[in-house]
Amino acid sequence: MKVVALHGQKHKGSTYHISKMLIDKLDCAKEEVKEYYVNDISDCIGCFQCIIKGEDNCPHRSQTDDIIQAIEEADVILIDSPNYVMNMSGQLKTFFDHMGYRWMPHRPHPSMKRKIGVAISTTAGMGAKKVTKLIASQMFWWSVGKIYRIPVAVAAMSWNTVSDNIKTKVEKKTTKVAREINRKSGHIKPGIRTKFVFNIIKNMHKGQDYNLVDKNYWKDQGWI
Ligand SMILES: Cc1cc2nc3c(=O)[nH]c(=O)nc-3n(C[C@H](O)[C@H](O)[C@H](O)COP(=O)(O)O)c2cc1C
Repeated sequence: MKVVALHGQKHKGSTYHISKMLIDKLDCAKEEVKEYYVNDISDCIGCFQCIIKGEDNCPHRSQTDDIIQAIEEADVILIDSPNYVMNMSGQLKTFFDHMGYRWMPHRPHPSMKRKIGVAISTTAGMGAKKVTKLIASQMFWWSVGKIYRIPVAVAAMSWNTVSDNIKTKVEKKTTKVAREINRKSGHIKPGIRTKFVFNIIKNMHKGQDYNLVDKNYWKDQGWI
């Protein structure tokens, strides 16, 4: 089982440690885990080149293509971020902006429907649920077949100061999710919602001629 972990922050705090806890419980060899920090990716400049001409025309493609290739090769995509003012980190959002062309209305990668996603977030008080929901929503629009969420209110500013009680709860939660992932990996089918959205977009592409890069991609995939 190949795993890719995208960390929405460079430091190794509570969020990172919880992701690590989960990764350690997955049925995969060390060499099968690829980890990336999304910190140093330039902001999307809104040039639309990825969408209308193709992703290789993105001026920042050299900063993202290794990560995107790893995502497309993985069976499990883990994405984490601390809660920063009730949202994901800005650097993770920047990475997501660069994935706009992989949204279902454009050119979703055909392997996504069979993958498992995991969204992890920690917060001092409130907001981790919201952040995992936002991360999961991005993966839904990439058409990832099954997505787990692990939001944790750690009541702390660093992993060292998280209580044993909370750490025990996190151990239990990560064990439960890891077991499910280990069982389900390789057997994922797209959910009803994904199928429904795919169908609407399919009909939209049949009738459109404003973005032939997207339309031809759908044709090449045999979707229209
Ligand atoms: C810039 C910033 C904004 C934050 N915003 C919130 C917030 O809105 N609500 C909250 O409960 N905690 C907030 N926190 C606390 C962190 O979400 C929390 O300590 C988290 O566990 C940190 O994860 P880390 O150890 O992986 O860095 C914020 C922290 C920072 C640095």
